Amino acid sequence: MSVCPLLLAALLVSFPAALLARQPHIVFILADDFGWYDIGYHRSEIRTPHLDELSAGGVRLENYYVQPLCTPSRNQLMTGRYQIHTGMQHQIIWPCQPYCVPLDEKMLPQLMKEAGYATHMVGKWHLGMYKKDCLPTRRGFDTYFGYLTGSEDYFTHVRCAPIAALNLTRCALDLRDGEEVATAYKGVYSTELLSQRATSIIRKHNSNEPLFLYAALQAVHAPLQVPERYVAPYSFIKDPERRLYAGMVSAMDEAVGNITLALQQEGLWDNTILVFSTDNGGQTLCGGSNWPLRGRKWSLWEGGIRGVGFVASPLLKQPGTISHELIHISDWLPTLVGLAGGSTNGTKPLDGFNVWNTISKGFASPRLELLHNIDPRYIDIAPCPGTKRRLTLAQVGSGDSRANSGFNVSIHAAIRSSNWKLLTGYPGCDVWFPRPGDNSSSPSDVPPLKQVMLFDIEKDPEERNEVSAQYPTVVDYLLNRLYRYQKSAVPINFPADDPRCDPGPTGAWGPWA
Ligand SMILES: *[C@@H]1O[C@H](CO)[C@@H](O)[C@H](O)[C@H]1NC(C)=O
Ligand SMILES: *[C@@H]1O[C@H](CO)[C@@H](O)[C@H](O)[C@H]1NC(C)=O
Ligand SMILES: *[C@@H]1O[C@H](CO)[C@@H](O)[C@H](O)[C@H]1NC(C)=O
Ligand SMILES: *[C@@H]1O[C@H](CO)[C@@H](O)[C@H](O)[C@H]1NC(C)=O
Ligand SMILES: *[C@@H]1O[C@H](CO)[C@@H](O)[C@H](O)[C@H]1NC(C)=O
Repeated sequence: MSVCPLLLAALLVSFPAALLARQPHIVFILADDFGWYDIGYHRSEIRTPHLDELSAGGVRLENYYVQPLCTPSRNQLMTGRYQIHTGMQHQIIWPCQPYCVPLDEKMLPQLMKEAGYATHMVGKWHLGMYKKDCLPTRRGFDTYFGYLTGSEDYFTHVRCAPIAALNLTRCALDLRDGEEVATAYKGVYSTELLSQRATSIIRKHNSNEPLFLYAALQAVHAPLQVPERYVAPYSFIKDPERRLYAGMVSAMDEAVGNITLALQQEGLWDNTILVFSTDNGGQTLCGGSNWPLRGRKWSLWEGGIRGVGFVASPLLKQPGTISHELIHISDWLPTLVGLAGGSTNGTKPLDGFNVWNTISKGFASPRLELLHNIDPRYIDIAPCPGTKRRLTLAQVGSGDSRANSGFNVSIHAAIRSSNWKLLTGYPGCDVWFPRPGDNSSSPSDVPPLKQVMLFDIEKDPEERNEVSAQYPTVVDYLLNRLYRYQKSAVPINFPADDPRCDPGPTGAWGPWA
């Protein structure tokens, strides 16, 4: 007994004050390709009782943005910085590309570790793996269980990818426990496998130590695969892809329920902040839906970037509310490090803001502007109904007089400032995909595109009324902002495939350099 006061005094001397406050456990669940219309509380036909209940008691983020693709969203989550500042503004990291998030970028788990957290990751990395220094275990996570690329089989955990330089398509395992290849999980459905690993981390965790758990689920990215029991309740869905997708969402919903239950049973929940977020909009080609929003994954329309997200926690000051404040995936790094009582010292200049008071107390967001992206090399790689014709019309008919803004308006870019959103170049698939099950509307009513388009997103979240002609000063201002951002951009890093990536017929995808 008598040593206690001494021990406390020693702690007071040697630890920063913030560490003496009780640091919350932080659990971040990232869904993959989960669309705006695919969650129960957006009136989807898909049932998500756990997500609905958790978010109803938390704060639903309804003006929340992510990036239109896997790697970029994860990149911004882990660095708190825009893609233009990491050289990763173009596409994703393909399996044979020899690059990763620059190694001089300090990542979220490193900062959490410095703040005294146990740091664990489960699931999809997709931030580069060509050399060992790029792996999650070398970038701040104490433990890792998951896969390094994307799009693999949910049961075999095999990813097939073309290796152009070798003129072959290689199918190889992509699953690791730490840095070792994990061969023992063939046949175990990924959503269950990853949630089991997450719950086992929670059950083994010493509750006196703060926990940071990042669970990046495979659900609900293609391929459309799910055990039959999850699909059975959806016999009323006629479209077979949508039906399978709905089953995958149900499995994910159950996974989140299991993770939450484990937190409660282990006595961690009262001091936990749980964030749920998608990484990008739904893929309409693979069962997803962003109705009524325009576009889809891989585009800068709202359907690609307005994300499903919420925070659930007994620590919220205004639980049971809906936030309409502007929040972006790059904001989590400063927000979570702030909650941890940590420091962002050592990061490069952040593009994210600490939005905890906005989420917890309903304060106005410190974020007034949001650069969605600038990618001069953008191409749309998936078929989009009617686009060729609309683009041609745009190029012939636009006669845009704004070339003197300094910003090259042929470039794929978008920026948001308060209620305004400006898009330039080709934003990606521009269709309003009908609500699943509704065959009455067709994409043929889509108007021609212009090189510069302005929308009042607050009044017009569906991006139906293009108003650049009515607000020339807003257009000029936002083009000028894009010009300044583009000046601060670092060159795109998008190297050619390295044939040494080939794991061979019996190997696994992983570091080769
Ligand atoms: C690539 O492989 C295909 C089929 O395996 C073959 O037909 C083709 O000639 C090969 N191309 C080159 C450049 O080797
Ligand atoms: C959730 O937990 C139950 C009970 O342990 C288990 O049967 C089920 O497979 C779990 N679901 C997922 C998606 O992990
Ligand atoms: C930030 O980090 C540097 C180098 O790691 C260190 O020298 C400096 O004291 C730190 N500053 C603060 C305010 O913690
Ligand atoms: C403007 O951007 C487009 C698309 O990136 C590019 O093809 C074109 O060369 C650029 N024009 C100028 C004048 O830089
Ligand atoms: C649209 O759906 C309705 C009801 O399912 C069906 O009767 C009708 O034939 C469908 N129309 C088209 C054009 O597919």
